[in-house]
Amino acid sequence: MPAEEHPMIGVLLNGRTLRGIRRGSTQHEALQLYEHAAARLGCRICYFRLRDISLRRRQVKAIIPDGPVGRYVTRMIPIPSVIHNRAIHLTRRAQARLGRLHHLRYYIYNRHTRYSKWFIHQLLSKHPDIVPHLPETRQATPTAIHQMMERYDTLIIKPSNGSIGRGIMKLFKDGGRWHLQYRTAGMERTLRTRRGKRSKRRIRTRRWAVISFRSKLPAALKRLIRQRRFLVQQHIPLACYMERPFDLRVSVQKGDSGSWQVTGIVGKAAPAKLFLTNVAQGGTVYTLEHLLAANPSLHPERVRAEVERLALLIADHLDRHLPNLADLGLDIGITQLGFPMFIECNCRDLRYSFLEGGLWEEWAAVYYQPISYGQRIWLDRQVTSGTAN
Ligand SMILES: Nc1ncnc2c1ncn2[C@@H]1O[C@H](COP(=O)(O)OP(=O)(O)OP(=O)(O)O)[C@@H](O)[C@H]1O
Ligand SMILES: [Mg+2]
Repeated sequence: MPAEEHPMIGVLLNGRTLRGIRRGSTQHEALQLYEHAAARLGCRICYFRLRDISLRRRQVKAIIPDGPVGRYVTRMIPIPSVIHNRAIHLTRRAQARLGRLHHLRYYIYNRHTRYSKWFIHQLLSKHPDIVPHLPETRQATPTAIHQMMERYDTLIIKPSNGSIGRGIMKLFKDGGRWHLQYRTAGMERTLRTRRGKRSKRRIRTRRWAVISFRSKLPAALKRLIRQRRFLVQQHIPLACYMERPFDLRVSVQKGDSGSWQVTGIVGKAAPAKLFLTNVAQGGTVYTLEHLLAANPSLHPERVRAEVERLALLIADHLDRHLPNLADLGLDIGITQLGFPMFIECNCRDLRYSFLEGGLWEEWAAVYYQPISYGQRIWLDRQVTSGTAN
């Protein structure tokens, strides 16, 4: 069939990733895997930003793979009717544009990629089968923190809108006193070169620090939770690998069948003596099997099956409440007894943990599934309305 009759899937990127296409450095986004997927599926693919779209003309200035890998052309084309959103749009204006595209009947999957942790927690709390897998969580007011301190000896305090482990603190009781472990904001210094000129290079001097107190919350903590919404959460006693807590990144996606499936699971262990498993915070990636081999009391197949069951339950439940969801990266911890606990849900999963863990097949698959889902939607829409492009 002529090229124009093949499904065209648009991939909506943020500005930085899109600008990187021509330089061949698209940060964590391995666009060539989308292109492999499109080639395997027999569909076309193109990349653009929200600002490249002209709603009036119903066109978009898109970057389209052209011939050998790494070659692209830029063209004005009709806006693809099916769009995989891989950008985070925080401004009202961007949200309104996405809304207008939706009302014009463009199908944008993962239309919203950022929900607050509090919002997701509340949604998940509505499902009785999910509740046992949720750490007790409250909005962090001084009263709520004090009440949680009476119930638990270790708590996590985290920004409701944070990501990659930034701003997360641990509050724990030891020797009759409470200790707040946090990462200092750090200083940025302008260095001088050997010749005494100012260098533009700046260094970060962030480090972990601890404030101890008996019962009155530190003023710095009170100030922080006044400025920004934080959550206070029961600390999950995570299973450990070499005494380092670990959790799992579980990719749950819709594929060409249109139903949810677990595409891959990879583990992340915190650095020694720390509690954040995020790779951006020094965490290390391992396969689930490797991590479980260090925990002989846990049954690998059973743990995997339980984690998958919870991931699918969560995806299915969120799908009933959030628009056009198709691709999730869940952080799921397992307790020392092997019980899966929900930690966090990402609607724009940074998929590079699979690469770091050497899980090549899963890494390619997390790019393939969303494109195969998009193709299915494209074909379905063509059958029902004959309007796809
Ligand atoms: N309740 C908890 N108990 C134990 N560890 C936790 C808890 N909450 C968070 N952590 C640790 O902190 C890490 C980061 O927390 P979380 O995933 O909630 O935030 P984030 O990574 O900053 O957000 P995002 O996943 O959106 O990037 C987790 O991967 C886990 O290692
Ligand atoms: Mg996380």
